[in-house]
Amino acid sequence: MTDNAPQSISLTGKVVAVTGASGALGRALIEELSVRDAKILAITTNLTTIFPDGVTVLAWQLGSEAELLPHLQEVDILIINHGINVYGDRSFSAISKSFEVNTFSALRLAEIFFSTVADAKNRSTKELWVNTSEAEVNPALSPLYELSKRTLGDSMTLLRLDAPCIVRKLILGPFKSQLNPYGVMSAPWVARAIIFLAQRDVRNIIVTINPLTYLLFPIKEFCQSWYFKLFTKHGNIA
Ligand SMILES: NC(=O)c1ccc[n+]([C@@H]2O[C@H](COP(=O)([O-])OP(=O)(O)OC[C@H]3O[C@@H](n4cnc5c(N)ncnc54)[C@H](OP(=O)(O)O)[C@@H]3O)[C@@H](O)[C@H]2O)c1
Repeated sequence: MTDNAPQSISLTGKVVAVTGASGALGRALIEELSVRDAKILAITTNLTTIFPDGVTVLAWQLGSEAELLPHLQEVDILIINHGINVYGDRSFSAISKSFEVNTFSALRLAEIFFSTVADAKNRSTKELWVNTSEAEVNPALSPLYELSKRTLGDSMTLLRLDAPCIVRKLILGPFKSQLNPYGVMSAPWVARAIIFLAQRDVRNIIVTINPLTYLLFPIKEFCQSWYFKLFTKHGNIA
């Protein structure tokens, strides 16, 4: 099937890498991207998952992000999608795990991906999509999930000021998955909405049933972006 969405960015032939590939949203995104004839790289910590034909599977572990560099050189779009929710656990290990998985590994991957943006062509064709959460602006009834996702979201707002390529944030509401068994939306529906909005070049992709997020997130992102711009200096990330 060809990508024939009117006036939309084509995904046909693009190399798209997805972390958290074996999870509910990872699998749903891979399905949607396959339909649009993207070349998919499933980055996973779970090698027992069976992916559709044509999907290239790449194993990784937390802390071994640098080993992905040679593969990310060839990637047009990296979707940082992996994540965990430790729910009510407030131990030191839960704090460490939440930030390591949700925040620091995502930032390491972003840094490595930015380093692959080598020339002017890359600047306009490469994209980083980061799945933070509507927990950036609303409670998720899981404090450590909120803390770690907000830190990721805020850090991406900061890095986006000097990013060498397009950066999209995915601001998602509750959908059903292992991470959130009570989610009211379905992962395939959320994935379809994400791709639809990304193809229309939306940079802050909000998909949720909570109307407050549509109001609060753009205000938060605008104000914080200006605050960061005023009180920080140009970085050296490319
Ligand atoms: N479900 C929701 O309501 C909701 C709402 C907003 C945002 N989100 C975000 O959406 C993303 C996908 O979540 P999901 O709901 O699809 O959950 P999921 O089905 O549990 O998938 C999450 C995936 O993250 C990867 N992962 C888990 N622990 C990891 C670790 N220690 N190191 C590296 N990777 C690890 C795993 O993928 P592999 O086994 O393939 O490595 C796992 O399948 C997450 O970032 C989540 O925070 C979810």
